[in-house]
Amino acid sequence: MFFKQKKTDLPKKDDMKKIVADSGIKHIAFIMDGNGRWARAKGLPREAGHGVGVKAFKNAVTLCRDWGITTVTTYAFSTENWKRPPQEIREIMRLLDVYIKEAEDDNDKNRIRYIFLGNKDRLGEELAEKCRYLENITKDNSLILNIALNYGARDEIVSAVNSLIAEGKAEITEEDISSHLYTRESCDPDLIVRTGGEIRLSNFLLWQSQYSELYFTDCLWPDFNEEELIASIVEFSKRKRRYGGV
Ligand code: IPE
Ligand code: IPE
Ligand code: MG
Repeated sequence: MFFKQKKTDLPKKDDMKKIVADSGIKHIAFIMDGNGRWARAKGLPREAGHGVGVKAFKNAVTLCRDWGITTVTTYAFSTENWKRPPQEIREIMRLLDVYIKEAEDDNDKNRIRYIFLGNKDRLGEELAEKCRYLENITKDNSLILNIALNYGARDEIVSAVNSLIAEGKAEITEEDISSHLYTRESCDPDLIVRTGGEIRLSNFLLWQSQYSELYFTDCLWPDFNEEELIASIVEFSKRKRRYGGV
């Protein structure tokens, strides 16, 4: 099911702080899908879509932060994305490397705490170390930006359970699992936005999405702009969240 807001009905950017506050949205998550198709439609190699996708991502994070959303999570690379051609994987990792360097340089002016979700072992020692370093130097910042990288929700849940076994637990609670997931520093996402037209979660935040509102749009991620973000939050603000109650 797709949600299409008439563009003329959308609120202005200046109204978004109030809409965000009134809606109660604290955590928004993005499944940034459609980079490859965006590029192919323009006759470009798939990699070109990832480059423009990074720009769309930075723009969305800045807007979310300015409007008062305190946690943003983004799906950058899944445990299944290793099936892609080596050249595409290399380009995604290169873009990440550049992104991390810029995030380091901008640390004084932006107040973002970076957290990478996923097992860093497969990233290679150099990139893994850069991720750890960025996490470390930004750890006292208040706005959380989770970047899911080599992330899979099943892998995350299995790792959490294995950590609990290693701690000697014989019986576990839901809280035990939540507090051992990669997302342990964050509340559950209020809204998960997936671009690119597919209506599935693709192994993203399976535990944490228990009561998340889901929003699917056929907009391809590189085209995800301020208007698209506003449309998704406005749709969220109209949802009635009952959590199983009445
Ligand atoms: C999402 O875009 C980005 C990553 C998975 C890294 P895709 O690369 O999946 O783009 P499409 O879905 O093939 O168009
Ligand atoms: C989901 O997109 C993963 C990311 C956005 C990083 P995919 O393109 O990998 O998902 P599927 O293969 O369409 O399910
Ligand atoms: Mg895809």
